[in-house]
Amino acid sequence: MRDGFECGSDCPFVAPRPSVLDFPVGQVRRVASGTDDDGDIDETRRNILKLAGVGALVLAGGGLGAAALQYAQPPTIGLTSYPKVQLIDVDGKALTVTSVESEYNVDTSDLFLFNYPLRNEPNFLLNLSPANGQSPSSSNPGKWNAPGGIGTNNSIVAYSGICQHLGCPAPAIAYYPPGTCPKTFDGGALPFYIHCSCHGSTYDVTNSASNLTGPAVLPLPQVVLETDSKGNIYATGLNGPPVNGHLNSLQGDYGVGSTSQLARESPVILCSFPS
Ligand code: FES
Repeated sequence: MRDGFECGSDCPFVAPRPSVLDFPVGQVRRVASGTDDDGDIDETRRNILKLAGVGALVLAGGGLGAAALQYAQPPTIGLTSYPKVQLIDVDGKALTVTSVESEYNVDTSDLFLFNYPLRNEPNFLLNLSPANGQSPSSSNPGKWNAPGGIGTNNSIVAYSGICQHLGCPAPAIAYYPPGTCPKTFDGGALPFYIHCSCHGSTYDVTNSASNLTGPAVLPLPQVVLETDSKGNIYATGLNGPPVNGHLNSLQGDYGVGSTSQLARESPVILCSFPS
């Protein structure tokens, strides 16, 4: 008898459990709740709940995975236009026409690099004027009035420090002062250039970094330089193709900010010109 209900021999509460419902899953333990009235645990319901729980976890995990993947995609970072960035010398002082013309010249062998406009876009700063301040000649290699040049004799220029072939960065691509390698151009009138030791590309520093030797076919991007009334030097843009490895030169990293300081590096010298 159960709550006043007379149960016969075919009563479901006393009928033997069909063996097909005996899931061989784990050890059944009695707990205070979740049992039927006679203390047995309903294995069928328990296993259905187990399967439902596992399904919910899988679905939840899938959703979380999708969300994680969505946020794992790096957002496009960069700038919307070229900023005006003041250049700072290696000593921490403002870079001026006077300081460049006194400290750097066509014979300077160390590299002076600054990032612009992004933090992963290094550029060479060069003064192509002869060391002694005299005008360039066959016995005094150098260049005045270079395209895009600034300073007293328009000899201060800046070019990307990332090769346009396969992207070898400075110091593998480096400025080679006169006499660094036996190789010259223009019948000997051009013994200084930017050369990449990775595969031999060479660029004309006196002519907007156009190609002198391949395998690169594009010139190096040239930094637009400007000065203020005090002679302070600013980078304000890039001319030429995009910096190698960038869809455009404004995207691919964060901007450098309002100033960019020169870093000094020793070049990797390898006179490997294509024959
Ligand atoms: S990466 Fe500079 S020549 Fe190949």
